[in-house]
Amino acid sequence: MRAGSLVILPTETVYGLAADAANPAAVAAIYEAKGRPRFNPLISHVADLATAERLAVFDDRARKLATAFWPGPLTLVLPIAADTAVCDLARAGLETVAIRVPAHPLARQLLARFGGPVVAPSANRSGRPSPTTYADAMDETGDKAAAGLDGGPCAVGLESTVVALLDQPRLLRPGSVTRAEIEAVVGRLAEAEDDAKRSPGRLARHYSPEAPVRLNVGAPEAGEAYLAFGPTTATGNVLNLSASGDLREAAANLFAYLRAADRTKPAAIAVAPIPTQGLGEAINDRLIRAAGFVG
Ligand code: TXA
Ligand code: MG
Repeated sequence: MRAGSLVILPTETVYGLAADAANPAAVAAIYEAKGRPRFNPLISHVADLATAERLAVFDDRARKLATAFWPGPLTLVLPIAADTAVCDLARAGLETVAIRVPAHPLARQLLARFGGPVVAPSANRSGRPSPTTYADAMDETGDKAAAGLDGGPCAVGLESTVVALLDQPRLLRPGSVTRAEIEAVVGRLAEAEDDAKRSPGRLARHYSPEAPVRLNVGAPEAGEAYLAFGPTTATGNVLNLSASGDLREAAANLFAYLRAADRTKPAAIAVAPIPTQGLGEAINDRLIRAAGFVG
């Protein structure tokens, strides 16, 4: 990574494709490898809050959220520090920077030894489901990486929650740290009223398998793969996100099961209704985008 190479990096959320955030050539190689539009900024990952405070301006709210949830699946969007090491390209030219301290032990070791900020977008090619296993990450962008760390299957399985602290606290991307958990620390969250502008990565069609995705399906049609949730009478090409109806288990399985269903080349992937409370907000957000429904 110090030489500008890309590395497959496990985190507790999803696998990332990592590079030195201070090296514009390395960052350019990340956009290239993912086929990612350059207006979509990257998250800088660091080992701890002290390192993060050299990159961005933390107010009280930011420090409270960092203390409550780091290391862990929360990303904070903050104003840059005057001498931030995160290069312009990593921020897509914005005066703000997205930062997180991941919890996965291998990610923590790498970040501690590297010292500086590391960009790590999800290791999928742009628009595809995020990889939650080493094999899926290698499949997506492994050919672009000089090395990879196999950290096993990702425990969380959904990307981090993204919260902007620029004016009022704003939820830019729901994730496994829930709205209620954030609001318990900083009060009511404003919505990202202009989705595409506030968090440029939130494109309509995203996280998408090859097959079309149909949501809120009680009973799949012939030829469809079915992702069930809770008890089901469906038979055939069926994977159950969580037979017991546990949202954490469903989140951890979501992207891997979308990929597994897709490999069976179904007419469509039908997905059972998933409750919208708590972690269900993030699961439904990803599903709606996988189906290409957000305009
Ligand atoms: O869980 C995660 O966050 C994973 C793992 C690997 O850490 N990473 C990840 O990165 O999901 P990526 O690049 O796929 O998503 C980053 C999101 C995008 O929606 C992007 O638009 C948003 O964060 N973002 C980054 N910098 C931003 C900024 N300055 N302002 C607003 N949104 C920003
Ligand atoms: Mg992504």
